[in-house]
Amino acid sequence: MDDIFKSINLLGSIKQKIAPVYLGVDIGTTSIKIAEVGQGENLPQLMNYCILEDKGSLLRANTAIQTSSLKLFENEVARLLKVAVEQMKPMTTEALASLPVFSAFTTILTFPEMSKKDLEKAISFGIKQYIPMPVPEVVIDWMKVGEYRDEKGFLLQQILLISVPQEQVKKYQRIFSEAGLRLAALEIESLSLLRALVGNDPTPTFIIDIGSRSTAIVITEGGTIRFSGQSDFGGASITQAVSSGLNINPLRAEELKRERGVGGTGPNYELSTIMMPFLDAIISEVKRVEANYKSQVPNSKKIERAVVSGGGANLAGLEKYFESSLGIPTVKAAPLSKFEYPAAVEPLAKELNSFLSVSLGLALREFT
Ligand SMILES: Nc1ncnc2c1ncn2[C@@H]1O[C@H](COP(=O)(O)OP(=O)(O)OP(=O)(O)O)[C@@H](O)[C@H]1O
Ligand SMILES: [Mg+2]
Repeated sequence: MDDIFKSINLLGSIKQKIAPVYLGVDIGTTSIKIAEVGQGENLPQLMNYCILEDKGSLLRANTAIQTSSLKLFENEVARLLKVAVEQMKPMTTEALASLPVFSAFTTILTFPEMSKKDLEKAISFGIKQYIPMPVPEVVIDWMKVGEYRDEKGFLLQQILLISVPQEQVKKYQRIFSEAGLRLAALEIESLSLLRALVGNDPTPTFIIDIGSRSTAIVITEGGTIRFSGQSDFGGASITQAVSSGLNINPLRAEELKRERGVGGTGPNYELSTIMMPFLDAIISEVKRVEANYKSQVPNSKKIERAVVSGGGANLAGLEKYFESSLGIPTVKAAPLSKFEYPAAVEPLAKELNSFLSVSLGLALREFT
């Protein structure tokens, strides 16, 4: 199974083993997060990191450094990435990057049991009917994510098909080369999250990555991705709600949100009631994704737990709130447990865990 997801690289280039240090680069809608990772004594080692938040985006509610088109912002992203690299002074230029879930089209296909070669043929033969764009314009990858027996006893295999617009891949290559980095691999964010937060654990799990402008929802089971979806609500929606609810400026609202969190009583109760509807919107999307998973994926299992990540998961009280609404154990992401890191990082580890999930997951692809 490991081999399967290691081989997923939308650039199609052969895995580079020469450079022992990699940068996992997560370009979010309002921030760039980079983890520099090399081999430690026993585990991969986080050597350096950078979180570059675009605070100005709070004031420009309708723009973001990453959008579904990315077109308008290519130069801005390249500029910010350059700034991040200059601050960080990494010892490598080898970069691994992820694409947001919304920029990739994924679907699960079912095929009878057959050899890998025949499967390749079957997929490329039928590909036109599965993807929403002309075939020459997309980069395609696929992996086996499961198998089951139908009512007649025939063994069927489930294939996760991933397609990304060619233009999107080229854009990333341009952005990285402008920042002086070599893009060694590109994969969809959900794979990075899977590696960082679930690994081989077979437990049916929700990964809920709460970013700024959206929340990615991924269902994993048997150590692979089974299903995914997305909510258009994220940390920024909560900040905006606090700002307009209390009639304060967005920068102050952001501070207040981070200071107080959700679920408070007494003087913090009002603040909580402003935030809750947005958490509820994310939760109801999570439930909808689960319902779709159940109805669309044969042999689906009951989801037993949730892991929350992304900057939005740092909202104090969020796990508790999600746990009681979803009715399953809910924990905060802890990808740093798979790494060695300098002692100076320890006091920040709790917060970094959520922010760096994608970047650390990217780096792990080269170290496991
Ligand atoms: N301590 C905190 N409490 C509450 N929210 C927080 C805290 N720290 C960060 N956030 C929120 O996290 C969000 C940013 O998270 P993240 O960096 O994961 O987003 P992103 O990757 O840029 O966005 P996306 O994944 O949507 O592209 C912001 O909305 C911010 O308000
Ligand atoms: Mg993100």
